[in-house]
Order: sequence, then structure tokens, then C-alpha cells
Amino acid sequence: MADAPASILFVGDVVGSLGRRTLLALLPHLRAEHDPTFVVVNGENAAGGLGITPKIADELFAAGVDVITLGNHTYHRREILPYLDAEEHIVRPSNHLAAQPGHGHTVVARNGIRLGVINLSGNVFLQAGRPAFTEADTVIGKLEGACDHVLVDMHAEATSEKVGLGWYLDGQVTAVVGTHTHVPTNDARILPRGTAYITDVGMTGPRGGVIGVKKEQAIHTMRTHMKVPFETSEDDPWLMGVLITCSARRNQATAIEPLLVPWDGVPDADAAGASGAARPSSS
Ligand SMILES: [Fe+2]
Ligand SMILES: [Fe+2]
Repeated sequence: MADAPASILFVGDVVGSLGRRTLLALLPHLRAEHDPTFVVVNGENAAGGLGITPKIADELFAAGVDVITLGNHTYHRREILPYLDAEEHIVRPSNHLAAQPGHGHTVVARNGIRLGVINLSGNVFLQAGRPAFTEADTVIGKLEGACDHVLVDMHAEATSEKVGLGWYLDGQVTAVVGTHTHVPTNDARILPRGTAYITDVGMTGPRGGVIGVKKEQAIHTMRTHMKVPFETSEDDPWLMGVLITCSARRNQATAIEPLLVPWDGVPDADAAGASGAARPSSS
């Protein structure tokens, strides 16, 4: 049982090489500053902006990430498919079809505290096998008694669907955090029954692009209606996430703090490039 407060650092969609470098550089600083009990990262865009590979997932775990969540780009890289079944702490949306590779929830323990992580896909504008809300009921039932806190990554397009799930799960889980749009929302709060909530935490990677893509390419396509190959932007790296403070009471949170951290893009010489400085934030 949770007899001491814990905290969860949740980091939004890591986009491409720049996103990975940003996360790996800033994570030691965030650990030093906030001492999170758990680190959970959405990695659905980690490989060149689309999907994730076993090598990249291993790299994130080696950096101290406890759980990787995914989304609609889960299956973009074929080499990840067997890894999704074999690796316990990488989760894809639970409401994907049962026949699709991987699993939708996991439990990780640190300092005697057990955190359940559930990944869900929205149903509006995204292809999911089952409704997110009833899937949440099912998985929360499976986790009953197996963990002290539960975090839900609701990977969804529609803000209304995410807000609705937050209200629906208020008091049943520690946190409902939204991902997928790559744009952070300004609505982090503790709901009345104790669930930490935010509609979207944002992304980790190039803020100087269009949700990760080089802005010139995205603008060209939007302006001319003609497709051009999209590449991941390398402009203006930021880490975006939230820090959730858990209550000593099960499935309750006491605080949720957005973390919007620009990175100077220069790895330090020490720790094999695993550190780097944050620039002063402009927001
Ligand atoms: Fe994403
Ligand atoms: Fe997505």
C-alpha cells in the first residue's frame, strides 16, 4: 500500500531524434530537481516521428524510463511488433483489437509503491477496436488490488473526449493525462474527487515545427494541397510533460504541475552526453 506520497513525471510524445536527445539531456536535471518516483514517457513518435523501434525503447528504459506508452503510430515500425508482446513495460492502447500485438496496461513498482499505467486510444478520428470508456472500466477492474496508483494516458484527438474521460474516471484513478495533439493545454487541475487531469501535455521535440514536422514542408502542403515528403524538424527543442504528486491515499493526487522546458541543444561532455542545460523558459 502507498504509505508515502509518490510522484510521477509524465512526458509527452517524444518526436524523432531531437525529441530523444532532448529527453535524455533534460531527464537528469528533472530528476535532480523533482525526484520523481516514476517516469512514464509517450514514445509513439520516437523513431523518425512515426513509431518506435526496440533499440530506441531499450535506450529509453536504460535512461530510467519506467513505462513507455504509445498511440495511433504504435505499429508503424514492423520490428517493434514482437517487442510489444515480449516487453512488459511498453504499452499500446488497450482498446486496440485483442489480435493486435502488445498489451494495454502494466504495473511497475518503486520504493514499495505500485503504479498501474493504462494506455487508451480515443474513438473520435482515431481507429480503435473498442470504446475507450468501457475499456477503462474493464482494465481498472483488472488492476483492482494490484496497484496503489493508476495513471491513464488517453491518446486522443478530440478535447471533448479527453475532458469526458477525466470526469468519468475522477476518483477512480490517480491521473488522466492526454496525449496525441502535441500541443499543451492550459487546464491542468485536480478534479473534485482527487484525479489529476490535463487535456494534453504537449510533445517533446521541435517546437519550431508543425507538431514535429519541418514547418516549411507542412506549410507548403497546407498552402498548395500538394504532398511533399515530411521530415522531422530540428528547430527549437522543448520537453513537455507534467509532474503529478500522488496522495498517500490510493488513486488520489494532490497536485499536477505542467513542465514546459526548453533545451539549449548542446549535450554536456560528461555522462556520455546524457546531460545538458535547460534554457530559461519563456512561458
Ligand atoms: Fe504523437
Ligand atoms: Fe498520436
